[in-house]
Amino acid sequence: MHKQFSLQEYDDAAAYIQQRLAQPPAVGLILGSGLSPLAESIEDAVRIPYAHIPHFPVSTVEGHAGQLVIGQLAGVSVCAMQGRFHFYEGYTPQEITFPVRVMQRLGTRKLIVTNAAGGLNPTFQAGDLMLIEDHLNFVGMAGNNPLYGPNVAEFGLRFPSMTKAYSPDLRALLLATADELQIPVRRGVYAMVAGPSFETPAEVRFLRNAGADAVGMSTAPEVIVAHHAGMEVLGISSITNVAVDAVDSDTDTTHSEVLETGAIIVPRLTRLLIGVLEKMVG
Ligand code: HPA
Repeated sequence: MHKQFSLQEYDDAAAYIQQRLAQPPAVGLILGSGLSPLAESIEDAVRIPYAHIPHFPVSTVEGHAGQLVIGQLAGVSVCAMQGRFHFYEGYTPQEITFPVRVMQRLGTRKLIVTNAAGGLNPTFQAGDLMLIEDHLNFVGMAGNNPLYGPNVAEFGLRFPSMTKAYSPDLRALLLATADELQIPVRRGVYAMVAGPSFETPAEVRFLRNAGADAVGMSTAPEVIVAHHAGMEVLGISSITNVAVDAVDSDTDTTHSEVLETGAIIVPRLTRLLIGVLEKMVG
């Protein structure tokens, strides 16, 4: 269940990618459900299918292409994961986070993580963007933390702090950029659940009462591993639907709704990320 990778395996994958690049990517970018088209804005792109990279897991779910797109976005060298790995697909937390550690070994020091999420905060609407300030990792708290098993000291500490997992500097940068571009951005706590079934109405109320503003099936493992390894993390949720909190509700959550709303959000999220990247390089 908990397959462990050796440092050599991360380095094999990093070396394969490095051979194809003129320079190491400065910023990693993980694209969530419906957000893969964002990678089409990357210029001078080198595309590397996951299946070609040693030890790399291969993604299965509809709406996830499964390749690294490495190139320039807003003048910054970025490495985008077009398609990510989910716990519900059967990947272990170590497999889910394999690409993050490979990026770290490549020399990438910043990670922007995006996802699709259901809105729990009653003021949120489908189509909103949410800056992730903190998370509730239900999968990790239930025993599936990606750092489970022997600690690889080359990456970080045995017991890493998570108080500032979402970089205060990058959060401030995102809010300043959103303000300048007049793109409304919510802020809140992201709850990761395992999925793939959507939450029951009782679970929706439970998560809201637990302090979560949005719920999804990804992100927390990648953020933990990135922060453990000293990378600065920025997290953004696309609120693709409002989570249904009553059994007699007329509405229901579907995967197609998640993908469709994601597609509507892409141009706005692209503008926001380009603004952030421009500021990241100065
Ligand atoms: N719940 C869980 N994951 C999600 C949702 C949701 O409502 N929307 C998008 N991803």
